[in-house]
Amino acid sequence: MNASNPRRIVQQDVVTDLPPLGEHVREETGQQLQDTLVELVDLSLIGKQLHWSVAGPLFRPLHLQLDELIDSWRELADTVAERAVAIGFMPDGQAGTVSESSPLGGVERGVIEDHEVVAALTRRLAEAAERMRTRMVRLGELDAASEDVLIEVLRAVEQQLWMIRAQRPVPAER
Ligand SMILES: [Fe+2]
Repeated sequence: MNASNPRRIVQQDVVTDLPPLGEHVREETGQQLQDTLVELVDLSLIGKQLHWSVAGPLFRPLHLQLDELIDSWRELADTVAERAVAIGFMPDGQAGTVSESSPLGGVERGVIEDHEVVAALTRRLAEAAERMRTRMVRLGELDAASEDVLIEVLRAVEQQLWMIRAQRPVPAER
């Protein structure tokens, strides 16, 4: 184990068994995946909080939809983390790392009206999707297989964004 870099999970004698990305590309690709993992884990935690907090006429559909979203974010997080391991970068999806490094803000503890849940989710998903798109583009320059993972993530998150966004009230025609 390389003591100076605890994320390295391989020993020198097996380093040639890793995908031949080169150390710099491996590290940056891993970090892009790590940043994505953190956001997906945080989305799943915020989503569960909203699942418990939502109130109002849209309680039932939102309560149920949130559990579907959480399942999706957890599955995507696993895909992202396992890609990192596959290239020799140890991901960290633990609570301390997520709270330290997630750019997503949490939600207030307490009852949240349904339309506010839609607004809170729309904003966070839009911001997360924008960052994921930037990472996808960068990974296209580094490693196509990792880019492919980000394409899968972004396609899902942008579809979710649409399906949440579409629940906002349609402005009345004048
Ligand atoms: Fe539940």
